[in-house]
Amino acid sequence: MNITIIGTGYVGLTTAVVLSYFDYNVAAVDKDEGKLNLLHKGKSPIYEPGLQNLLDEVCHTIHFTTSVADVVPDAELIMIAVGTPSQKNGEADTRHVEEAAREIAKVCHPDKHYTLVIKSTVPIGTNRRVAQVVDIVFEERNIQGNISVASNPEFLQEGLALQGAFYPDRIVVGANNDDAFEALRRLYQPILEQTFDSPTWLPRPAAYHLPPMMATDPNSAEMIKYAANTFLALKISYINEIAGLCEDVGADITEIERGIGLDSRIGRRFLRAGIGWGGSCYPKDTAALLGVASQAGYQMPITEAARVVNFEQRKRIVKKIRNALKTLKGKTICILGLAFKPNTDDIREAPSLDIIRQLVAEGANVRAHDPIANSNAQQAVKDISVEFIEDVHLISHNADALVLVTEWETYHKLELRKLAKQMKTPILIDGRNVFSPQEAIAAGFHYIGVGR
Ligand code: UDX
Repeated sequence: MNITIIGTGYVGLTTAVVLSYFDYNVAAVDKDEGKLNLLHKGKSPIYEPGLQNLLDEVCHTIHFTTSVADVVPDAELIMIAVGTPSQKNGEADTRHVEEAAREIAKVCHPDKHYTLVIKSTVPIGTNRRVAQVVDIVFEERNIQGNISVASNPEFLQEGLALQGAFYPDRIVVGANNDDAFEALRRLYQPILEQTFDSPTWLPRPAAYHLPPMMATDPNSAEMIKYAANTFLALKISYINEIAGLCEDVGADITEIERGIGLDSRIGRRFLRAGIGWGGSCYPKDTAALLGVASQAGYQMPITEAARVVNFEQRKRIVKKIRNALKTLKGKTICILGLAFKPNTDDIREAPSLDIIRQLVAEGANVRAHDPIANSNAQQAVKDISVEFIEDVHLISHNADALVLVTEWETYHKLELRKLAKQMKTPILIDGRNVFSPQEAIAAGFHYIGVGR
């Protein structure tokens, strides 16, 4: 099967590489020449565990190009995986999706059938809008044209992108005709039946069950994506709200997480209290869902509250540092972890950036470290003064407080005693409840966690 993927971001590139691993003929289009130059050299423009390994194996088989016209005419299935950034009012901007659909419709053969798959996260009704865009171009070209549009939302979790692509929980397809369902069922057959040989470094999980492909109408498929992300965001905000109360009444949130998570109706995953969620999805998708609701004249107070609680967590951390040091002015604060979560170089909507900005605005000197995301973060805060540290073991020298913001595995193994010894005042603010309070105290720290 000839497949063209438009957009080589986290979703587009992961999909291109995985489909190429299944021996499909894959072409990937992106307007960003810098990214394509890297990809032509076989280098991944993003950090995602395992992606470079897979790219090494398959990159010579993928046709990377900036030209839709070069590859779309020969494709059978075309996937749109471009960005849908937030507009000022929170609604998702589908301009790039529509633009891609227009370009595709302009160059496709008049008498050939194509399946056009929307993988980008888009507001409800975009599938219908894309079909209209395609029809308008066909009218302009004075051709009949034959494109079936399907919505196939992506549930890619950064840091675990390949695991999610090879071993998904489910595949959701929204379409109005059987051709599209059939094309996607054929495309995903290796995943649905798990007939591929797993990469040696990413074996099939022992308890993995074959994933269902759920066929639904386009609006429902689009809503499933927003509802899934909002639910997970709510779950995290809920536990963070309880964590705040635990601090006031003297309970330990890690015990609550376990105690309620063991109820199988609730489940333990996505129930970790901390600084809250960031990244390219939850902040954007909860805002976009509220945008969809507002257009419909519908109130969503639970979703609104989840956002309020989430962004408050960042201020609460700064307040904890301020309270511990009396003032932030002139104090040296060390930030451990800048990426919005571990195992990614992505700093979009990362809590670290807000926290750093608040600290600097109050006159603190900030030292920051991330195992992978230092240079991305450096770019994001280049307008303010922040010192980026390469060797984490040296970060706490003469510092006033150490703040863990992102729970990279490497920080779990830090020698706390050594870090505490180097500090002016050994204060440890554990924004993700990674350390054992007893061990931190034994190492010489004054320990402050979240909700404990
Ligand atoms: C998410 C969804 O998981 C994915 O299905 C969707 O397609 C895109 O959005 P991602 O943004 O990569 O993926 O991150 P995720 O692993 O879901 O974490 C999001 C944020 O929640 C991170 O900032 C993380 O630190 C935070 N989080 C997660 C918590 O604070 N507590 C938790 O228990 C889990």
